[in-house]
Amino acid sequence: MKNFLARLYTAFKLRRWPHGCRISPLATVKGDVRLGKYTYVSSFADIRGIGSATRIGNYCSVARGVKILSAGQVHSLASISTFPFYLIDRSLRRADFMVPRGDVVIGNDVWIGADAIVLPGVRVGDGAVIGAGAVVTKDVAAFQIVAGVPARPVRMRFSAAVCAAIAASQWWERDYAELRPFIRRIHAHEQQGEEGMLETLALLARERAPASG
Ligand SMILES: CC(C)(COP(=O)(O)OP(=O)(O)OC[C@H]1O[C@@H](n2cnc3c(N)ncnc32)[C@H](O)[C@@H]1OP(=O)(O)O)[C@@H](O)C(=O)NCCC(=O)NCCS
Repeated sequence: MKNFLARLYTAFKLRRWPHGCRISPLATVKGDVRLGKYTYVSSFADIRGIGSATRIGNYCSVARGVKILSAGQVHSLASISTFPFYLIDRSLRRADFMVPRGDVVIGNDVWIGADAIVLPGVRVGDGAVIGAGAVVTKDVAAFQIVAGVPARPVRMRFSAAVCAAIAASQWWERDYAELRPFIRRIHAHEQQGEEGMLETLALLARERAPASG
């Protein structure tokens, strides 16, 4: 019963988007933002794609209070004033005040910890982890854990061999129904160790391989 109520609460809390991602009604997602399948965005997160695009992959976890900024949140440092005068003068265009920045591109299965801030133009690789409260000013490599202000590498999640095998598997491109038979193996790192992970990835690959003969 307790489990059922918890599920009901989660379903209510995170509104479903058509392609399977979930966004809390208390989160803000504005502008040119695309979220991949199963990705969830928790309450008080604020994801912008104003003046530049923001792309987030599949199976990403965006915790409470995360902020992802875009070009629209960059004020000019090179002018006499950083103030966005278009706010008080309707003859001025917001676009003229935007400082060009690259897109934010976040890979698949990225976990962004509570209250982290991702600055415009930052790219985050697949499987990376951003610690709670981090300010991410530079690109983050795939499977790297970063934390702090400014965010610095803490460590890689796995050995180079396991990172490469996970990347090669591209498991995040699959629908959950396809992953479900393997979910205990995918989730259970403690019990299986890196060898077990490689076995699981091999199993996944075999299950998908076209039947021979
Ligand atoms: C980044 C994180 C994943 C690292 O986990 P971990 O590998 O178990 O990290 P450890 O506890 O072993 O810490 C490793 C080092 O990083 C530091 N560190 C860990 N998290 C940090 C953070 N958020 N900010 C700054 N430093 C951090 C630790 O102090 C430690 O430093 P030291 O080696 O100098 O002692 C985790 O600390 C974190 O921030 N998780 C996010 C939790 C969250 O926001 N959940 C929201 C709900 S989904």
